[in-house]
Order: sequence, then structure tokens, then C-alpha cells
Amino acid sequence: MRILAIETSCDDTAVAILHARGNKITTKAQVTASQIPIHRRYGGVIPEVAARAHAETILPTIQEAFLQLGANPKTFFKKPPIDAIAVTAGPGLVTSLWVGVTAAKLLAQTWNVPIYGVNHMVGHIYSSIVDSELPKFPALALIVSGGHTEIVLLKNKTSWKKIGATRDDAAGEAFDKFAKVLGLPYPGGPEISKLAERGNPEAINFPRPMMQDASFDFSFAGLKTSGRLWVESQEKMTAKKRADACASYQAAIVDVVSSKLARAVKMHKPKTILLGGGVAANDALREKLTELFKDGSAKLLLPKKSYTTDNAAMIGAAAYFGGKKFKTTWKKLAANPGFEIEY
Ligand code: KG4
Ligand code: ZN
Repeated sequence: MRILAIETSCDDTAVAILHARGNKITTKAQVTASQIPIHRRYGGVIPEVAARAHAETILPTIQEAFLQLGANPKTFFKKPPIDAIAVTAGPGLVTSLWVGVTAAKLLAQTWNVPIYGVNHMVGHIYSSIVDSELPKFPALALIVSGGHTEIVLLKNKTSWKKIGATRDDAAGEAFDKFAKVLGLPYPGGPEISKLAERGNPEAINFPRPMMQDASFDFSFAGLKTSGRLWVESQEKMTAKKRADACASYQAAIVDVVSSKLARAVKMHKPKTILLGGGVAANDALREKLTELFKDGSAKLLLPKKSYTTDNAAMIGAAAYFGGKKFKTTWKKLAANPGFEIEY
């Protein structure tokens, strides 16, 4: 099965072409038109600006993916050898989602191929399976992105249940907002993790909100405020202080998400642990989880870094494995900004 996958839920126009067979899915072409340089000017994503940028780039990005596979640009609108189209239906920014959804509907109708309206979070869950194999179930997934922090229990490949989520800010958002008060560019996560390499993670004792709480829920608003107050209390900011602050702040986030996940693993005894979302690119988090689960009682699958931040390959994988949960028709498909993961 050959799948054309499209993702436009936030600030990346992403397209991938994948081959799927049995329990395996492989990316054959992947193109992402990043809007980071545009949003950097505003220090964050402006939905209307994002949607306009998607509208400009969506068709050239799809075309580029086919060109990567050697397609003839003159015959672009003839039906290519594609068996299905997968597109992110939600959650996300409604105006951004509609650009990808509209392009997918148009192509599904023109080429007369099945269409899948995929949940973006299930995409992040399946990101560690792209270019690999379906894991053993039950599985537990930790999703840490700019918009979401969730722990999801997977009974099997089509049964997903959210068992914990953030009550306020997401982990990526906590990184981005602290970066902003430190005067670092958007998106802040990669900037903080780079500076953290030179800092002492024990220099500042930032709070670990809800770490001891019995639920699997998260809260990062208190940490964010504490980070801001610490910056405001410094008379002079030096490079050393900034690196220490980045390392200490990152350590607080890593401690909270990894200890909650470890507790969920103890309770639910999954065979596989999956990590996904932009913050899954964070080396400190990857190292901590690798150390925590090295006894091998559950197999930890980390996504390739190119599949951590928003990408279309993960959407193709979720469509393939999620199958009937996402299958729809081009007439029925609509953007669903509040799309929830459930059993
Ligand atoms: O999954 P994603 O691309 O978008 C959403 O679906 O939200 O995640 C983007 C988030 C941003 O907050 C960004 O700062 C964060 O992922 N991020 C990181 C790293 N790379 C990206 N956070 C920490 N360390 C990183 N290396
Ligand atoms: Zn995402």
C-alpha cells in the first residue's frame, strides 16, 4: 500500500510518501516547509499567518515529494501510484488544519482513492514505528509536544486511551516560554537543550509540579512562573547563569515526565513504551528514559529525530495502523480542531 500523507496542524507544511506492508511502514519521500523563520519574528505561532503560509506551500510541497521519487512534473495532476491519502484532521489550529484537509479532499476526489482523517496525537504515538515494525501490545506512549503532554495506553493497534494529560501548559510550551523570558529565539526547546549542555542541572532547584501526585496528569504553569521569577530576580545575566538555568529547567521537565511515565509503566505493565512529540528530540529526556527502562522488561522505542517534531510520515503510519478508526470519504472529512483520542 502506497500512502500520500499530509500534515498542516500547526506551523509545518509536511508531506510524505510511504510504503506499508504487513507490520512494516517505510518512508520513501519526506518534505517539510518549515514556518519557523516566519513565526520567529513574532516569538510564536500566529494562526492566521500560519494558515496563509500553508496555503502558499501545500501544493508545491506535495509536488516536491513526488519529484523526490522521480515523478514527471508535467504529469503531476495525473493519478500517481498512490493507494490512499492520509491527512491530519485534528487536533490543531483550525485554519491550518483546513488547508491540509482541503488539499487532501481535492486529491482524493480527483484520483478516486480512499482518505483517512488522522488524529495528530496518534500520529506522534506512531512516530517511533516509522521505518520500523509494529511493536508488542499493550503499549504505553508518552507524547510531549508544543501543544500536548499526554500518557496514552494502547490496548492494541487501534485502541488508545488517554490516562494522563497536562492541566495547563504543555512540556514544549514550558520550554518555549522560558526561552522567551531568557531572550532566546522561537522555538525555545532546541535552544534551551543546546545551552543546557554547558550548564549544571543542579544549580537552581526549580519546582517539579505534580510529580508526587497520584494521577498521571501534569502541570507546568508553576514551573514557568518560577522560571520567569528567577530570571527577573537576576541583576545581571551571565552566559554561565543562563546555561545553568537552562540545564536546571530542563532537568525539572525531564524529571516530571519521566517519573510519571515510570509510575504508569509500573501500574500498566506494557510490553512496549513509545515516545513522541517535539520534546522527544531532547537528548536529556532520551537518555533518562533509556536509563530508566534499561532492564528491558518493557521495550523502549524512541523515534528518529526527524520524526519527533511535526511531520507527515507519522500521519501515514497512524492511518495505516489505525485503519478503520480514521477511514472516511472526501465528502465527509472535515477539520476537527478538538479531535480526542479515545478507545
Ligand atoms: O510536536 P511538535 O512539533 O508540535 C506540536 O504538535 O506541538 O513540538 C514542538 C515543540 C516545541 O515546543 C519545541 O520547543 C519542542 O517541541 N522541541 C524541543 C526540542 N526540539 C523541539 N523541546 C526540548 N528539546 C528539544 N530538543
Ligand atoms: Zn505535534
